[in-house]
Amino acid sequence: KTSLEDTLLSAIRTIPDYPKPGILFRDITTLLGNARAFRRAVDELVHPYAGTKIDKIAGIEARGFILGGAIAHQLSAGFIPIRKKGKLPHETVRVAYSLEYGVDEMEMHKDAVTEGEKVILVDDLIATGGTAEGATRLLRQMGADIVAACFVIDLPDLGGRRKLEAMGVEVRTLIGFEGH
Ligand code: PRP
Ligand code: MG
Repeated sequence: KTSLEDTLLSAIRTIPDYPKPGILFRDITTLLGNARAFRRAVDELVHPYAGTKIDKIAGIEARGFILGGAIAHQLSAGFIPIRKKGKLPHETVRVAYSLEYGVDEMEMHKDAVTEGEKVILVDDLIATGGTAEGATRLLRQMGADIVAACFVIDLPDLGGRRKLEAMGVEVRTLIGFEGH
């Protein structure tokens, strides 16, 4: 095991049977509260893109806002919030996306990105990929050039990475947990 994996494994808390029996919840609040682990995760996520021109980071509500804000600062990029429907005050574009059970909708401001801007999508975790796929569709609808999608945690058994890669998105994750 690498020292990065050690750092992340010991900083991410696993809560059994949350939010439902049988689910192992990967809780990043302990990582965010650990100064060394938080910095390490952000540094590792951005390191392939340091020195390349990234216009904006798009963070997915809610946990993607925390990591995305830190990453935007580090890369001197702007930040775009992708929010659950009904939260943004100006004109938006909206997309339906699939969750484990059912669908929901997310949106972003129409003027948050302009044609051809280079954007990195950020969230804490990719599972089925439904959330990130919806965000990818929104960003592309407004002409964004998605350079990569970055996540701290991958749940590889749920297939999200393959789904995004099939859409032509480069995916970067730091640690994978088998099973759910
Ligand atoms: C979790 C996680 C990702 C998403 C991943 O968010 O933070 O955003 O699920 O799942 P997927 O790859 O199967 O779409 P959640 O929907 O729990 O909302 P929250 O971040 O606002 O708590
Ligand atoms: Mg989320």
